[in-house]
Amino acid sequence: MSELNHLFDRNLAWADAIKNKDPEFFRRLAKQQLPEYLWIGCSDSRVPANQIIDLPPGEVFVHRNIANMVVHTDLNCLSVLQFAIEILEVKQIIVCGHYGCGGVKAALDQHDHGLIDNWLRHIKDVGRLHADKLQTLSHNEKLNRLCELNVIEQVNNVCNTTIVQQAWKKGLAISVHGWIYNIENGILNRLGDSINSADQC
Ligand code: CO
Repeated sequence: MSELNHLFDRNLAWADAIKNKDPEFFRRLAKQQLPEYLWIGCSDSRVPANQIIDLPPGEVFVHRNIANMVVHTDLNCLSVLQFAIEILEVKQIIVCGHYGCGGVKAALDQHDHGLIDNWLRHIKDVGRLHADKLQTLSHNEKLNRLCELNVIEQVNNVCNTTIVQQAWKKGLAISVHGWIYNIENGILNRLGDSINSADQC
């Protein structure tokens, strides 16, 4: 039973370092989570939610999938969204994409990727919706622009879920933000204004 021992060693060192700074940290966190943010991001290993915004455990409720998609019928994502809003009372929802996204790249090429092509289909749809903005761009510009447009579309999808629509109807102050992360320099940027009400989407 010695598989991946180095990861358990790292875990012990990590937990010790936190307890040395703040002995009550884990006991406090064990009682409840009160995250202020829901992060919907890409599964890419270079885009870890908490580290990018430099927040400790307990501060960010996270959902990640390939290419940070919010698909209207994805019960996994919708359940996360409902739990975040109705139980955790999160008010800030962030959809974060990143430049050079492998999912977006795969959606742009003409190769056969097997099962995942069914997921990538949603990104291809975003490309089709914005074909006029993409057609004159070089391949690299097209990739990065589609990464941005995909975030904007997923923000729109979050806003149009029954969950967020109902929350706004009840008067909850939910804000939905579209961000993009640059894996080449570690910097986040906003994509457009945040959406705070049903009439903005
Ligand atoms: Co990605």
